[in-house]
Amino acid sequence: MKLQSQLNLAFTALLLVILAVTGYVIYSMILGMLIDNEKTELQQKGELLVEVLNEQYSPQGSVQDLSDFLNDQNLHLFLYDRSKNQILMSTMPQQYVEGFSANQYFADNQEDLWEAGNSKFVTSRILIYPEQTGLELILLTPLTDLQMVQQNFFRRLILVFVIGTMAAVALSYLLTNKLVTPLTKLKKQLKKIEKRQFDQIERVKATGEIKEVEQSVYDMATELNRYMKSQQAFFQNASHELKTPLMTIQGYAEGIRDHVFDADDQEKGLEMMVTEVNRLKKIINEMILLAKLDSEQTEYQPEQIDANELIEQVLDRALPLVSEKGIELNHTVDQNGVFYADQEKLLRALLNITFNAIRHAHSRVAITVSHQTIMIEDDGEGISEDLMPHIFHRFVKGKTGETGLGLAIARAIIEQSGGKIMVRDSELGGAKFVIVFSV
Ligand SMILES: Nc1ncnc2c1ncn2[C@@H]1O[C@H](COP(=O)(O)OP(=O)(O)O)[C@@H](O)[C@H]1O
Ligand SMILES: [Mg+2]
Repeated sequence: MKLQSQLNLAFTALLLVILAVTGYVIYSMILGMLIDNEKTELQQKGELLVEVLNEQYSPQGSVQDLSDFLNDQNLHLFLYDRSKNQILMSTMPQQYVEGFSANQYFADNQEDLWEAGNSKFVTSRILIYPEQTGLELILLTPLTDLQMVQQNFFRRLILVFVIGTMAAVALSYLLTNKLVTPLTKLKKQLKKIEKRQFDQIERVKATGEIKEVEQSVYDMATELNRYMKSQQAFFQNASHELKTPLMTIQGYAEGIRDHVFDADDQEKGLEMMVTEVNRLKKIINEMILLAKLDSEQTEYQPEQIDANELIEQVLDRALPLVSEKGIELNHTVDQNGVFYADQEKLLRALLNITFNAIRHAHSRVAITVSHQTIMIEDDGEGISEDLMPHIFHRFVKGKTGETGLGLAIARAIIEQSGGKIMVRDSELGGAKFVIVFSV
């Protein structure tokens, strides 16, 4: 069943139960209330009559005068003489008088609800003053009158309930519709994600928790799209990077096989083939390393690394390239500087950046370590503006670039170690790479 129907059904059922209980309670209470009310009214009416009687008819006045007056009132009543246990007058048919007498109602002071045959009456009894006359006025109202009022009231109550229920159900439909519509729309968007139609995804208007879910879905789709695009780009770039050296190797190999080269060219070809094979090996090794860094498999073994020791290791490994290029490599390291990372991997990242700097420097490279920051800068030509935003992406490289994977590897390692890497222009004139570890 649809969510909206379920919600509406639950709400309607709840409403009906509440109304049924309320209706039952009201129905059973109303008759009692009407009877009480009627008794009070009879009492008031009676007292009023007695007052008039006492004013107009002296105790010595004849009963006949009283009867005439009472007969004119258009009420159900008896005039009862308690001292003689006798009914002096009645405005009701004889059968009731007999019925009431048979049940001893007149003599009994307690009974409020009198019964004769199938009819019941609400009664009220008023003494006519002065008391010594012993006269009592008894007023009656048929219970059927009250039951009619009860029925009438109940019919109206049902009508109000029916209209109220309809209004409530309509309102509930509107509200649940408002609640469910965004969910239905969201479901459609999820279907699009499933079919990878990322460019057709639309935002859904919603509020509260549904809005949060919608935002998450949207973020997820964006991230998934980005990831898929980057994977695609990676494969395209990777196959391109692998194809170029392979084509060179194939060209020379076929040339040598078909004896199209003279001895010198053949020597040169073999030389080229070795270089290209080495390049291929390097690309493949770096791709494997990157894939490993990306997957959860790589185990980082963070440990305390002494900053001085780390930079010493970088300098040791950079020494051959430094002397080959004939540049100056300066370093300033904070005393007591300590990093918390996987030492071998962090060294790899720093070497990638340092080798780049040495390769691009004119005459100088500087490494500075202070607090939790490592800076590596050079006085080379720097990084062009259009390359800057993408420099850490895979296979992004400049004119004299090699694999374009070195900085991607460095970033992966540093981010996995909880650090950040940024590139800036250096005051020395070249590029400046800043690595910051959060404290
Ligand atoms: N210190 C630097 N000075 C100028 N350009 C740099 C520097 N470091 C990196 N680059 C540019 O960034 C590109 C990407 O570097 P990297 O990812 O290490 O790949 P690769 O060194 O294999 O080309 C390089 O090709 C180069 O153009
Ligand atoms: Mg490099």
